[in-house]
Amino acid sequence: MKFVLILAAFAADPTIAFTTTGGILGTATTTRASTTTTIIPTSPSSRGTLLRLDAAADGVANGTDKKKVIVLGGDGFCGWPTSLYLSDQGHDVVIVDNLSRRNIDTELGCDSLTPIQPPGVRVSAWKEVSGKDIKFVNLDVAKEYDLLVQLIKDEKPDSIVHFAEQRAAPYSMKNSKTKRYTVDNNVSGSNNLCCAVIDSEVDAHIVHLGTMGVYGYGTSGGEIPEGYIDIILPGGREANILHPAYPGSVYHATKCLDALLWQFYQKNDQLRITDLHQGIVWGTNTPQTIKDERLVNRFDYDGDYGTVLNRFLMQGAMGVPLTVYGTGGQTRGFIHITDTARCIEIAINNPPKAGERVEIFNQIAETRRVRDVAKLVADQTGVDVNLLPNPRQEAAENELEVSNRKFCNLGLDPITLDAALFDEVTEVVNKYKHRCDPTKILPASFWNKKRAEECASLDPNSVKIKV
Ligand SMILES: NC(=O)c1ccc[n+]([C@@H]2O[C@H](COP(=O)([O-])OP(=O)(O)OC[C@H]3O[C@@H](n4cnc5c(N)ncnc54)[C@H](O)[C@@H]3O)[C@@H](O)[C@H]2O)c1
Repeated sequence: MKFVLILAAFAADPTIAFTTTGGILGTATTTRASTTTTIIPTSPSSRGTLLRLDAAADGVANGTDKKKVIVLGGDGFCGWPTSLYLSDQGHDVVIVDNLSRRNIDTELGCDSLTPIQPPGVRVSAWKEVSGKDIKFVNLDVAKEYDLLVQLIKDEKPDSIVHFAEQRAAPYSMKNSKTKRYTVDNNVSGSNNLCCAVIDSEVDAHIVHLGTMGVYGYGTSGGEIPEGYIDIILPGGREANILHPAYPGSVYHATKCLDALLWQFYQKNDQLRITDLHQGIVWGTNTPQTIKDERLVNRFDYDGDYGTVLNRFLMQGAMGVPLTVYGTGGQTRGFIHITDTARCIEIAINNPPKAGERVEIFNQIAETRRVRDVAKLVADQTGVDVNLLPNPRQEAAENELEVSNRKFCNLGLDPITLDAALFDEVTEVVNKYKHRCDPTKILPASFWNKKRAEECASLDPNSVKIKV
């Protein structure tokens, strides 16, 4: 196996430091009360860990059929590494993306911490590195229906992986415009995909990325099963139904609406559909994206798009106090980006048969409480943990127990929160920290008027780079 390592040690500038002031409710666990930049040396352990992941991935893919796969949203944080992974495993990959995520960066005045390259540069770099072709098609799945149908007719994919949605809960709650855009884009995209598969008369298996948030983030009161739940109806009748939907944002509501569309089109048109209820994805590079700097994955650190563990790891590496919302008592599901790609391959290799009900997997490695995750990062980096007022309308504390047995039974050995992998993210952050805009770190979207008022003291300009 050939492995090219491009992560370099970054000589951190000791004159750079951050401070935060306004809006802090309290300070929790810290191992070293300091706001100066933490210098984390490049760790050989993270290279070793990525090598280990590469070897494990070979094991998962062995003996599987090679497929033609269209990856909708293949320019995004999950879609790009998944496309490379599938290509690396020998599948024939076509990426479709309308670059809306890059446009939202422009709208928010923010950018990926990592310098992601334009799609054309990305796919030619992959060809150079791997010898493999990936086609890129710029197409809006929610609006350019005829082009989507034609593409499916031309490519005749075995599987269509659907990542192409507006995926940030905070962005979906920013204002009426972003709420309406999220519903229009996500629900139309999923409906178009089903109609296009029917109209093209290509029997493609749809693999959709849903979210653990469809179940809601209350206390589960027991293990959340994978998609369907046994119930007793009035009169003592037993039934197995789709798990009740309990969305906590407009974004999560679109995933619940998607889930109903899958149920309908499976029943009406016998479409073969798998819905993956994914946890919060963390990490940046995978054994494929690390092969060349031009392949680097996007890394969102801002209050709207930065997901919780990646935000903490970035803040820890920069010496910025961790931004924990409320008490940090929220329990969430987590999965490493490398496992996202592996789960997708397992799903495309195990499609439901025609006429079988929608297959649903919980795509998570483990559940953790946010304040415990913050403590792990704080212990490793020595930064403070700051409890901020919560911009979200949600339970302050919840328990969450989730089954992920289906993926484990199909060969996934999930990666759990591992300090060696924390080093990998830390190295990436140290390398690109000069690209960070600290005014984008604090929350910028609020679930309702009351939450906005409670967060009024948060001052984005209070997070400063000290020169
Ligand atoms: N990142 C996570 O932690 C996470 C967790 C659970 C579920 N998911 C789901 O995984 C999927 C991918 O998430 P991500 O983090 O990669 O998001 P992302 O925003 O980085 O990627 C989504 C991609 O889809 C594209 N896109 C959006 N609408 C489109 C349209 N109408 N036509 C064509 N392309 C379009 C965007 O340009 C972007 O490149 C999403 O559906 C998300 O809900 C992500």
